[in-house]
Amino acid sequence: MIPIERIRAAAESARPHVLRSPLVPVEGALLKLECLQPTGSFKVRGFFAAALALPPERLRRGLITVSAGNAAQACAYVARQLDVPCRVFMYDTAPPPKLAGVKRWGATPILLPRDELLQWMAAEGWHKEPESFIHPFADDEVMAGHGGLGLELLEDLPDLARVLVPVGGGGLVSGIASALKGSRPEIEVVGVQSDGYPLWIRSFEAGGPVSIQPDTIADGTTAPFDARMFELLKECVDRWLMVPEPRLRAAVPELASAAKVVAEGAGALAYAALEQLEPGPTTVAVVSGGNIDPKLLAAFLS
Ligand SMILES: Cc1ncc(COP(=O)(O)O)c(C=O)c1O
Repeated sequence: MIPIERIRAAAESARPHVLRSPLVPVEGALLKLECLQPTGSFKVRGFFAAALALPPERLRRGLITVSAGNAAQACAYVARQLDVPCRVFMYDTAPPPKLAGVKRWGATPILLPRDELLQWMAAEGWHKEPESFIHPFADDEVMAGHGGLGLELLEDLPDLARVLVPVGGGGLVSGIASALKGSRPEIEVVGVQSDGYPLWIRSFEAGGPVSIQPDTIADGTTAPFDARMFELLKECVDRWLMVPEPRLRAAVPELASAAKVVAEGAGALAYAALEQLEPGPTTVAVVSGGNIDPKLLAAFLS
């Protein structure tokens, strides 16, 4: 796990730049609204922490990352705020609003087909690039920054018992779990994935790497297997829940009409999984992002 002192320091450095996101009640749980962060997802927490931890000469070289879209936008936004250049490698299938966000903050997207992008990641292609690379999830500083969310939960909810977190590469859940379990190990951390890309659920069943072709609206959770994260997630996640894709598709408009919350597919996963839990103790579902293609949202709502 990430040491608690490191999480406190990372959260402290990111604090002036990120929102202390609100908790709003729905039946049986509280939603932690990370969709309201600058750039519309939790990713700014980790990217500010990681960028601000770089030595000044490495920061001046600019930032580079690889992303399904939200890390890309966060990286672009952080670079803009810190006045350094930024490029991002993205899937060529990235939803239009995520691509638009990257360009809005002056970063240059490099679009590649999924297989090519995964090869570039496996070969650690960033070593050949001039900018400083920030890994979208397997980076201690990024995870420590995300841990700030866990610290807020501890402060706001002294009786917190369960947290549901969507899992892609696993950086968000590892940061949150490290923050919570550092002082309250009994809090249950529940990892949530779609049945359209249950990478970690299948990997733990298999006891090692699996490869799955994503078929889900939760595009933010379609990261590839990573051996380091496999070990970390074993420690961090107490229970896994898998959400059927039709349930996830229903959860997006439900969140909009019932809770007045705009969530993207990955952002709605934790909420969508709530129905699988027995009601009871104080429970938080993290709404991790709101960058849904407006056309998709309109289709869901009609
Ligand atoms: C909205 C959203 N939720 C959840 C995740 C998963 O985060 P992680 O890859 O840290 O598990 C992502 C990752 O991009 C995301 O964009």
